[in-house]
Amino acid sequence: MAGSSSIPVVCIDGPSGSGKGTISRAVARAAGWHLLDSGALYRLVALAGAAAGITGDDVPRHAALARAMRVEFGWRPDGDEQVRLDGRDVSAELRSETAGAGASRVAAWPEVRAALLERQRASARAPGLIADGRDMGTVVFPDASLKIFLTATPEERALRRYKQLKDKGSAVNLAALSREIAERDLRDRTRQVAPLRPAADACVIDSTGLNVEAVVARVLDLGVARRLWPQGLKA
Ligand code: DC
Repeated sequence: MAGSSSIPVVCIDGPSGSGKGTISRAVARAAGWHLLDSGALYRLVALAGAAAGITGDDVPRHAALARAMRVEFGWRPDGDEQVRLDGRDVSAELRSETAGAGASRVAAWPEVRAALLERQRASARAPGLIADGRDMGTVVFPDASLKIFLTATPEERALRRYKQLKDKGSAVNLAALSREIAERDLRDRTRQVAPLRPAADACVIDSTGLNVEAVVARVLDLGVARRLWPQGLKA
């Protein structure tokens, strides 16, 4: 059960494009802690569903896949992330907007969320875990040592996502991306189960106009104040 373990957890929640992924990775690297990219799990459920040829809203079959899917996170020799789903390399597919939209759809189903709960909690391992998502602080790790809620204006988030996808060589359109982000935000915020919202005890950081280093420094300072790691860690 979350919180009953002595392993410290830092939650970094927020909407798409808020920079959670980048910040979580940088903080995990600086602290030498493990990382849970919970969004990747929802993306993998969507990909597993598509690979199994499931069309429409077959919730029980998606929940079964969420429990059974074999997932391996690793790194390529060039330093890029590598993700395998049931032995298949899905690294590129996983980061597509199609997978993101599919993830937002399956993430609204309580059975799928329940099926992923233990997998997420089991990723808390010594010396600590940085948990990146939407409901890390509200549902998955309610007793976390530190909860951050990262925000930025919708315009800035769409622009960040645009640059990120463009850098990866994807053909993207800023207006379409802004619309998709707004739709996904609305679905994530208004769903019945585990909607996106800051935990009551979360520290809210608005990253609009801040660079990655500044946000990482702020999170590292908060961790020092909670005695999670020593002062002087560098991003
Ligand atoms: O962070 P991301 O873009 O990879 O997340 C993809 C989708 O998964 C997002 O639209 C909402 C969902 N998600 C969620 O509901 N709960 C989480 N803890 C993480 C992601």
